[in-house]
Amino acid sequence: MLELKTTGGSQIEMQDILPMVDMRQVLFSIFILMLVIAALLLSGCHQDDDSSENSEPADDDDVADDDTSDDDTVADDDTIADDDTFPDDDDDDTADDDSCLQPGADCTLGETAADAGIFVGAAVPSDPEDPRLSLVSAHFNSLTAENAMKWGELSYHLGDYDYTTADALLAFAEDNGLRVRGHALVWGKYPGHGYPADLETLIGQSPDPYAFVQTAIADHVATVVGRYAGRIESWDVVNEPLSSVGTQFDPNPFYLAMGADYIAAAFMAAREADPDARLFLNEYFLVYDTPKTDALLDLLEDLLAQGVPIDGVGIQGHLFVSEPLPERLHRFLTAIEALGLDIELTELDVAKNVLWDDMLNGQTLFEAQADAYDLLAAACFDVASCTGLTVWGIDDSRTWLDELFPFNLFAPNNPLLFDRDLAPKPAYFAIRERIAEAFSR
Ligand code: GLA
Repeated sequence: MLELKTTGGSQIEMQDILPMVDMRQVLFSIFILMLVIAALLLSGCHQDDDSSENSEPADDDDVADDDTSDDDTVADDDTIADDDTFPDDDDDDTADDDSCLQPGADCTLGETAADAGIFVGAAVPSDPEDPRLSLVSAHFNSLTAENAMKWGELSYHLGDYDYTTADALLAFAEDNGLRVRGHALVWGKYPGHGYPADLETLIGQSPDPYAFVQTAIADHVATVVGRYAGRIESWDVVNEPLSSVGTQFDPNPFYLAMGADYIAAAFMAAREADPDARLFLNEYFLVYDTPKTDALLDLLEDLLAQGVPIDGVGIQGHLFVSEPLPERLHRFLTAIEALGLDIELTELDVAKNVLWDDMLNGQTLFEAQADAYDLLAAACFDVASCTGLTVWGIDDSRTWLDELFPFNLFAPNNPLLFDRDLAPKPAYFAIRERIAEAFSR
């Protein structure tokens, strides 16, 4: 069993982060922590797998050049669909048949999630022809476009939209009965990817930056949410409004022009464009009991007090450090739930650098990883308001962690639920069992 320490505390403390197994490991961990913090502070957190392509407009060909296209371990659609790990995939499971929650049930993760009334999804690359999409339709009941619905990917130049990839991924999801989480309407990182490449120049040329950004957000949100109204079940309306650590807002172009008002503006426009979509604020945390978590709770209280139409909080869940996860995460999720908000774990992955050999206690790396996923899933489904979780990728052959410094120092990170042969890993079964256990009580 992976051991995660359980100390209290309200800061990011060294003893919370370091495994403290031996001096070599402590020193190595300090080195890694410094790299991670440096990268987070310098780059404002983490970047996408295909962010290197972000200097150009989104384009299917570009995206198809990712490392899946030449991955000859990728089987053809039939092979994936015929995966005999799940010989009795019950396509005939109905909404009122919860047999997948019974002990020993032979169901996919998606079928189990559906019987539990929750969502388990995967983030998918911007290639509607990627054969691994059939793995998603076979094993999950929810899909997030990893990049294709981000503002700068839809609209490299402000106001100039190309929906080709987003439309195709949405059609794929609908054809396969997958719920869609829209990600992400307003994200203040990475020009040409998170937001239009020319946005900052245009703001700089405007005599009234506040009004300019207010209009840009209102137009973008109305355009995209309006286009997909009734088809996207939930949206990440604002992504990463807070700084990497501490209690400040992220000093992104939206914040610099409008202060925190940009957050309310985005949510109000989204509610108007699709009154039925659930609207989420999505954020990441290194540790779940810090000034940053307090700052998020304060922000949520403020937004709710102002009547801002926010329905839920997405906790990204990239697991960077071996922190005392269960208690802290549980407290944090309970505090969010107490505000009357839904919760989803939106971008789960468990990087190799939190699973040191010395911590394995005789387990394989993938077994320890399964325990870490299990802890995350258990924390989520322990609170009634947690409506789902999404893993940030499909299989280990392609993950942003293998591409962005300093995480790429540990490549292959192998952080996902399927291995490079597209076989489900222990983490897949751990989450499935956790859901069955949590929802059959
Ligand atoms: C953040 C964003 C995601 C993705 C990841 C890593 O978490 O919300 O869209 O870009 O970074 O790639």
